[in-house]
Amino acid sequence: MSTNDTHDAAGHEIDGHTGVSTTGHVWDGIKELNNPLPRWWLWTFYITIVWAIGYAFAYPSIPLLNGATTGFLGWHSRTAVVESMDDLQVSRGALMQKLANTPLDQIESQPELLAFARAAGSAAFANNCAPCHGSGAQGSPGYPNLNANRWLWGGKLDQIYQTIAHGARSGDDKGHQGEMPAFGKTGLLTAPQIEQVSNYVRSLSGLKTESPAEVTAGAKVFADNCAPCHGANGKGNISMGSANLTTKVWLYGSDLTTIENGVNNGHGGVMPYWEGRLDPTTIKALAVYVHTLGGGQ
Ligand code: HEC
Ligand code: HEC
Repeated sequence: MSTNDTHDAAGHEIDGHTGVSTTGHVWDGIKELNNPLPRWWLWTFYITIVWAIGYAFAYPSIPLLNGATTGFLGWHSRTAVVESMDDLQVSRGALMQKLANTPLDQIESQPELLAFARAAGSAAFANNCAPCHGSGAQGSPGYPNLNANRWLWGGKLDQIYQTIAHGARSGDDKGHQGEMPAFGKTGLLTAPQIEQVSNYVRSLSGLKTESPAEVTAGAKVFADNCAPCHGANGKGNISMGSANLTTKVWLYGSDLTTIENGVNNGHGGVMPYWEGRLDPTTIKALAVYVHTLGGGQ
């Protein structure tokens, strides 16, 4: 205690250096001065109290047994979510409407509509098409890869739409019809002829063959039996869904046995029709989605 210390009215000691009274707390000889709080701090503190009380009345705040006090503004987190969902529905509904009203060939030139159609198409694809075509539309034996630029029934937007809406060998009269005959089973071709023509088919896409003689003989069998559908050059015909045999993309497989089995037993993959099962706007979205996967023409 310094000599010039005195006491205030409440009996607290007054610090001689600053002239401020102390609280009476002393630690290791250090005395705590009883300074008032800064005015700005105090006001901020009072304002937060007023704010908290106001907030507690305005919004749901005090927990009760079944929920909380409601607040006079009537705000509710659930209502807020419902409202933003409504907003989403409205904007989505508007784009849905636009998609429905826009002709198929004018969708892809409008970026916003294209993005919307692709998203809607992708969702519908996952639900309806992925079980057969794979989640990435990559296909599997018998189920075409829709990313590849090799189309049985055509890769233009309207052709894709037609295939999705009406299918292939689907039982829909408007769908694609016709199949590849079972040349072996029906006795149209002998086993050696089937082997020859299958070698020739492999040669069309540059795959290894058993012998040049087989290929030469197979070319003759092909011209006589296969060309009407697959074309003299083997490039196929989309009006019949007869596969282009000159690419390296295969529906059923490229090994000799697979080709021989196909010529022996015939082919006729079934793609279901979707008109009447999915609404026309969804089918549009699906057509755009498939068309823009990478193989579209
Ligand atoms: C039950 C299995 C199955 C389901 C489900 C299915 N597809 Fe297919 N899809 C096929 C088969 C099989 C083919 C090949 C038909 C053929 O061999 O000619 C095909 C062919 C196609 C083609 C033509 C490919 C080409 O090369 O021309 C398109 C496009 C297509 N499907 C799109 C779809 C879409 C979109 C959906 C969903 C709405 C769908 N598919 C659902 C089995 C299915
Ligand atoms: C009446 C028309 C028709 C004739 C004739 C025909 N095909 Fe086909 N061929 C098709 C069709 C249609 C397909 C596709 C089948 C499907 O989608 O399931 C096909 C598919 C194939 C495939 C499968 C291709 C792949 O990607 O896996 C091979 C191989 C083939 N044909 C070879 C032949 C050979 C060889 C002959 C002659 C001996 C022949 N075809 C005669 C219509 C025909």
